Order: sequence, then C-alpha cells, then structure tokens
Amino acid sequence: MSTVAVRLVDAAADLAAAYAIRDEVFVVEQGVPVELERDERDADAEHFLVLVDGEAVAAGRLVVEDAGYEGIDPGLGPVGHLGRLAVRAPFRGSGLGVALVDALVERARERGLRALYLGAQTHAVGFYRRLGFAVTGEVFDDAGIPHRHMVRVL
Ligand SMILES: CC(C)(COP(=O)(O)OP(=O)(O)OC[C@H]1O[C@@H](n2cnc3c(N)ncnc32)[C@H](O)[C@@H]1OP(=O)(O)O)[C@@H](O)C(=O)NCCC(=O)NCCS
Repeated sequence: MSTVAVRLVDAAADLAAAYAIRDEVFVVEQGVPVELERDERDADAEHFLVLVDGEAVAAGRLVVEDAGYEGIDPGLGPVGHLGRLAVRAPFRGSGLGVALVDALVERARERGLRALYLGAQTHAVGFYRRLGFAVTGEVFDDAGIPHRHMVRVL
C-alpha cells in the first residue's frame, strides 16, 4: 500500500518540485512554451504538491482573483482560480487528480471563497465536471491548446 499526501508548498524545495512537474507535463509533454508556463501569478499563488510514498508526483496552484472575474457573479466575492493542475503521466488514473482538486477546493473554502474558476483543457472537461464544475462560455485558446471556462459555486 502506498501513502498519498497532499500538502501546501511551504519550502523552496517543494516549490522547485512543483515547477519540475509542471515543466515535465506542460512544457515537455504538451509543448507549452516555457515562458507561458511560468507567469507572474506564481508569486502570489498557493502551490500544492501530491506525494506518493514521499515522491512528488502532482502539482497545482490556487490564485485569488477579483470579484467578477471571467463574468462570474460579483456578488459571490473574490474568485478562487485553480490552475496548473498536473499529474505526472505514470501516476494518472489512480485518483491523485481528484485528491489534488479536493485539496485546492478545501483550501478555497478555508479562505472563505465561494466561487471557483478554472480554464479546463477540453480533454479534461469530463474530469472537472465530475468534481462539480460546470462549463460556461465558448472554447478559447490558451498556449495553442483549446480550453473551456468552468465554474463551481461553493
Ligand atoms: C487531468 C488530470 C489532472 C487528471 O488526473 P488523474 O490523476 O489522471 O485523474 P484521477 O485518476 O483522479 O481521475 C479520477 C476519475 O476521473 C476520470 N478522468 C481522468 N481524466 C479524465 C478526463 N480527461 N476526462 C474524463 N474523465 C477523466 C478517471 O478515469 C477517473 O474515473 P474513475 O474514478 O471512474 O476511475 C491528469 O490527467 C493530467 O495531469 N493530465 C495532463 C495535464 C493536464 O491536462 N492537466 C489539466 C489542465 S486543465
């Protein structure tokens, strides 16, 4: 039996591990230009890591956007923006993606956020739908990959 842990990044080594996973998945596997993969929001994001038996295998981040972000009802207040969700290829399909999203949603709740947003790659829409997110708006392009806007109200 392996041990799964999800934790908020609080050390430089953890942050480096999160960036390494993002590089592997988005830059190497999906061909996203590295200058787009890292952005200015990394500085104020909360980063999360999933560890299996102590090995970092998945990463994601939570950023807080202003009320009204992406047309979400401003009455819901600031919007929790989930992003850069990546599970290393050999570890997919065993529930780690769900564990990661659950941790980010729980953190958003703790911070009092009521509206959540993510830009889903179209292949992953079904994954997020099962986690309570609903598609809004049209398909849009981000870094050459088709995406859909998805929202969940807590
Ligand atoms: C999308 C991603 C995060 C999902 O993580 P994962 O660990 O493979 O997902 P899980 O094992 O937690 O999946 C849970 C369930 O969702 C399903 N699922 C996984 N990916 C899916 C997808 N793309 N569409 C529909 N369902 C999906 C799984 O089959 C599983 O179903 P089950 O419980 O009936 O077996 C992962 O595939 C990934 O990192 N992909 C590459 C990077 C990427 O595209 N990130 C998303 C950017 S928006």
